[in-house]
Amino acid sequence: MKVIVVKDQAAGGKEGYKVFKDALANGAKVFGLATGSTPITTYKEIVNSDLDFSNCTSINLDEYVGIAPDNEQSYKYFMQSNLFNDKPFKQSYLPDGLASDPEAEVKRYDKIIDDNPIDLQILGLGRNGHIGFNEPGTARDVTTHVVDLTPSTIEANARFFASENDVPKQAFSMGLASIMKSKHLLLEAFGDNKADAVKGMIEGPDTVDCPASILQNHPDVTVIIDEAAASKLSKKY
Ligand code: GLP
Repeated sequence: MKVIVVKDQAAGGKEGYKVFKDALANGAKVFGLATGSTPITTYKEIVNSDLDFSNCTSINLDEYVGIAPDNEQSYKYFMQSNLFNDKPFKQSYLPDGLASDPEAEVKRYDKIIDDNPIDLQILGLGRNGHIGFNEPGTARDVTTHVVDLTPSTIEANARFFASENDVPKQAFSMGLASIMKSKHLLLEAFGDNKADAVKGMIEGPDTVDCPASILQNHPDVTVIIDEAAASKLSKKY
């Protein structure tokens, strides 16, 4: 893992932007994208740049079950407002939160990923070490699936909703096996509430209890963290 420690999330956005820029310059065509507060500064830098994705494909990590794409809480809406309105891709895929047949939706999404191997996947990190919505204990050989969100994730994501009760209880998520197939992974984490998960991911045992520790087995991972998120690491990076 290449670990880059920056002062704060704004600086992290600039580093994240560079990773996207280099990937594009090296011919990347398929970008795996993430939502949440973490990648926002990277997306801002991209929006304010001259990078052009009009020949590229994007595939998002996850989407809530039961939420329409035009709902402001949907990940589709998040992507439109934080990136796609300014930087359109040739084709953008997200799981369909309203899919009437979840099994068929999962298969459809897996085929999209198989047909469009991801060159660069950006990831955030849950406080409990989740990536995408792969919660602690998730099997590692699973591809896209429907996830029952844990109480801690529901609580953490309640800040985006009117109340905790409004947070969906399930989501579609790429699985750990899908994520590990990406050629290059870029994980970002900012703030001291991510420090335990960051420690587990980088220095902890490789265990399903910290889903992100699976990244220790990937040959090309860039981790961008701020000083607060790095504060529990025992080694200097
Ligand atoms: C959610 C998302 C993840 C994200 C995580 C962290 O659960 N499904 O993809 O990485 O939360 O969110 P944030 O970046 O807002 O801290």
